[in-house]
Amino acid sequence: MVDSDALKYSILKKEESQEVVDFLAQHFYPREPLVKTLHTVLSVLETAVDFFKCYQNVDRILELAMITVPEKMSGRGVGRRLVQESEHLACQQGCQLATSQATAVPSQKLLQRLGYESLYTLDYTTFEIAGERVFDVDKMLGTTSAKVMVHELKPEDKQLHSKE
Ligand SMILES: CC(C)(COP(=O)(O)OP(=O)(O)OC[C@H]1O[C@@H](n2cnc3c(N)ncnc32)[C@H](O)[C@@H]1OP(=O)(O)O)[C@@H](O)C(=O)NCCC(=O)NCCS
Repeated sequence: MVDSDALKYSILKKEESQEVVDFLAQHFYPREPLVKTLHTVLSVLETAVDFFKCYQNVDRILELAMITVPEKMSGRGVGRRLVQESEHLACQQGCQLATSQATAVPSQKLLQRLGYESLYTLDYTTFEIAGERVFDVDKMLGTTSAKVMVHELKPEDKQLHSKE
């Protein structure tokens, strides 16, 4: 069994972009409950919060997007490490805030466990596109909303976290 600490976490290179596309096609989109409406939801979330207005002391932000762990590797702390490693790198580059648009329960829970707070909630039960309800929440495995989540990065995040 692979342990999250045994893996190497690195920044992808441009020439690896096709590998990323293939990885997301295999591991992200099949598990993303929104699929066709994802981009509409994300565009609403994108404009829902003005981070620079909410956090006057912030001028550089990390945006976490499409965090994905292969299903057979899930539940072993890899997602947690991906977030922590990203925060660590962002902190080194002067970011004071991390944000994410979390569209389903697993990512919302993952971020919550790492101290993220929700700044905005989009309720899927009432969400409409062109005047029509688009989500059947009964089929969404317990997800009823999307959330804009934030975490203030502290200088100590420059040090790598140990497992919390
Ligand atoms: C979300 C995802 C990245 C989590 O990665 P992971 O490696 O399985 O997560 P971890 O083992 O690091 O778990 C960390 C925390 O996340 C939460 N979590 C992870 N998977 C969860 C699930 N299926 N349901 C509810 N909470 C979950 C738990 O709170 C867990 O902490 P705990 O076990 O101490 O309570 C992974 O499930 C995934 O790739 N999902 C499909 C794609 C997706 O939805 N990505 C997010 C889009 S923004």
